[in-house]
Amino acid sequence: MKALVLSGGTGSRLRPITHTSAKQLVPVANKPVLFYVLEAIADAGITEVGIVVGETADEIRAAVDSGGFTGLDITYIPQEAPLGLAHAVRVAQDFLGDDDFLMYLGDNFIVGGVTGLVEEFRATRPDAQILLTRVPDPTAFGVAELDEHGAVIGLEEKPEKPKSDLALVGVYLFTPAIHEAVRSIEPSWRGELEITHAIQWLIDRQRDVRSTTISGYWKDTGNVGDMLEVNRTVLETVEPRIDGDVDEASEIVGRVRIAPGAVVRDSRIVGPAVIGTGTEITGSYVGPFTSISQECRLTDSEIEFSIVLPGSSITGVRRVEASLIGRSVEVTPAPRAPAAHRLILGDHSKVQISS
Ligand code: G1P
Repeated sequence: MKALVLSGGTGSRLRPITHTSAKQLVPVANKPVLFYVLEAIADAGITEVGIVVGETADEIRAAVDSGGFTGLDITYIPQEAPLGLAHAVRVAQDFLGDDDFLMYLGDNFIVGGVTGLVEEFRATRPDAQILLTRVPDPTAFGVAELDEHGAVIGLEEKPEKPKSDLALVGVYLFTPAIHEAVRSIEPSWRGELEITHAIQWLIDRQRDVRSTTISGYWKDTGNVGDMLEVNRTVLETVEPRIDGDVDEASEIVGRVRIAPGAVVRDSRIVGPAVIGTGTEITGSYVGPFTSISQECRLTDSEIEFSIVLPGSSITGVRRVEASLIGRSVEVTPAPRAPAAHRLILGDHSKVQISS
């Protein structure tokens, strides 16, 4: 069995974070989402992995190369344009050959991995197996309709009037039966060859399509609240470990991981929290459910329940909460008079000011 990881796409939903970086590299607990995907694949005992890449190919490749996935045999498969998930299966046909495969979207996060699912598929081998989860806004997803026995009777891609709240999760298990399906369908209204339609094509031909419903799922719907939640969930499982340099005047409480090369001075860090390599925290408070990436500076500030991406600095600000801060951002207090907010915000930024 092989794995096909989809890492193309533009990431419009997570702007502005994805203006400058691939959506699959958005970090959860200081680790790119894509790394959790590759780890889940390795844990499921799959070693041959094809990664479909688009515009951000170089960035994806550099990140994966630095990730130390030595147990995986990785092939990069270029997709000339983001023409849909079924199109990605088409371009990967040579790589996939006649093997069964796990298709995993590189921007999907599944708490607990996929080992059980892969085992179930290997044992039962339906033509296709899909994953579903209940979501508050199904219009942003593929949506499944099940009959009273739980069999899949219909799938729709981003329906205006969803027939259920069961969204298609971006993890699919296929036998080679999918190849004829992806060759037979036409582009959707958004100009993409939808994997949803290819699976519907199998259902229409009475092929065996099964579903499993899971909980513990996140995708880049652009909802920062959801992202903070998934970060919180993962931080709760992080192994506490202090490799960085923490001085006597500092206090570290609970589940905290401080990477090598990080420096903590005269500060209080209350976990669960992670601090990246090369980051300096001075005279500050870091509260629960916070991930601060590498090479950041936190000085005389307070932050809690937030994610800070690499290279950013926060100085003299209390208190930052429920925030997602991008790369190389500077947050500082405004001069005392006039009492005004001074903002330089990139395209698609979102700011909430307490006033
Ligand atoms: C794709 C699929 C959709 C699925 C989603 C899960 O959507 O088309 O059916 O629910 O992935 O991540 P897209 O990310 O292309 O909008």
